[in-house]
Amino acid sequence: MAARKREATKVEKHNGISWLIMNRPEKRNAMSPQLHYEMDETLAELETDPDTKVVVITGAGGNFSAGQDLRLFFRAMEKDPAGRKRSQEAANRWRWERLYNYDKPTIAMVHGYCVGGAFMQLLATDFAIAAEDAVFSLSEVNWGILPGALVSKVVADMVLPRHALYYACLGDPFDGKEAARIGMINYAVPKANLEDEVVKLAEKLMKKSPAVLKATKQAVRQVRTMDFWQSYDYLAAKGQAIKVGDNEDSYNTGLRQFLDEKSYKPTFEPFKLGTLVTHQTKKK
Ligand code: ACO
Repeated sequence: MAARKREATKVEKHNGISWLIMNRPEKRNAMSPQLHYEMDETLAELETDPDTKVVVITGAGGNFSAGQDLRLFFRAMEKDPAGRKRSQEAANRWRWERLYNYDKPTIAMVHGYCVGGAFMQLLATDFAIAAEDAVFSLSEVNWGILPGALVSKVVADMVLPRHALYYACLGDPFDGKEAARIGMINYAVPKANLEDEVVKLAEKLMKKSPAVLKATKQAVRQVRTMDFWQSYDYLAAKGQAIKVGDNEDSYNTGLRQFLDEKSYKPTFEPFKLGTLVTHQTKKK
């Protein structure tokens, strides 16, 4: 199948980081059906792209996203049930299913407006950093709707119930510092430093073993809804599974560097990737 022409998104790749950008700046990156299709397809592509180690989700023109496009995603789809179903499926798939369980680390970089439906991708990413002056709002209440798809659910899961109820029921805007205070993002930084801070975090992540990082982030998410006994079982199995897909043999490499070579302490730095001792290298 021919690749879809990129009209509402763009991708920029630098040194292992793929910046996946919602690109409708004139509409504050409001999410049209086209934007959803492109985001869905591109995330699938990047997940197996060897040049992509970390994916950053952000928006062009100084804004993250003004939420669902009220004209193209809502009104225009009212008389097109097939288009509505297709675009809703794509919207939910990339904003939640794909991002929530993504094989690679993901970071949301938030500047300007982050409104309504954009909270799904905000909260599905593994990490989120915002400009201190970013403006967040669960504005649905002002449109005669509730925070739908999974927005109410994921907001309620992420922050304390008081905060979820307050911001969902009032739609009041809040800034990056408040978003950090209530646990909606990891931290807020001055706008001028935003990109550098995101790169710094991505670089730290790229120093970790990809296999261990993938298993860890998936495990932390999955155990939230399990009881202790299920968690013991699941984590033991997940721990074994790492060994199958870990090209760095991280466990033995880490032990060797700490115990034998004394070249690494886990508290301060990651072990050195790419120094795996194989049967072959041992014989030489
Ligand atoms: N849907 C459709 N069009 C939008 C949206 C949107 N969510 N947000 C902005 N636009 C359009 C505007 O209609 C305008 O289009 P035009 O140039 O053709 O008139 C253009 O983007 C620029 O918007 P302005 O309002 O002029 O920009 P400003 O910077 O002053 O304000 C803001 C930005 C605050 C984001 C404002 O546009 C706004 O409140 N948008 C609605 C945000 C919202 O409530 N989203 C939630 C939708 S519901 C949901 O997501 C489930």
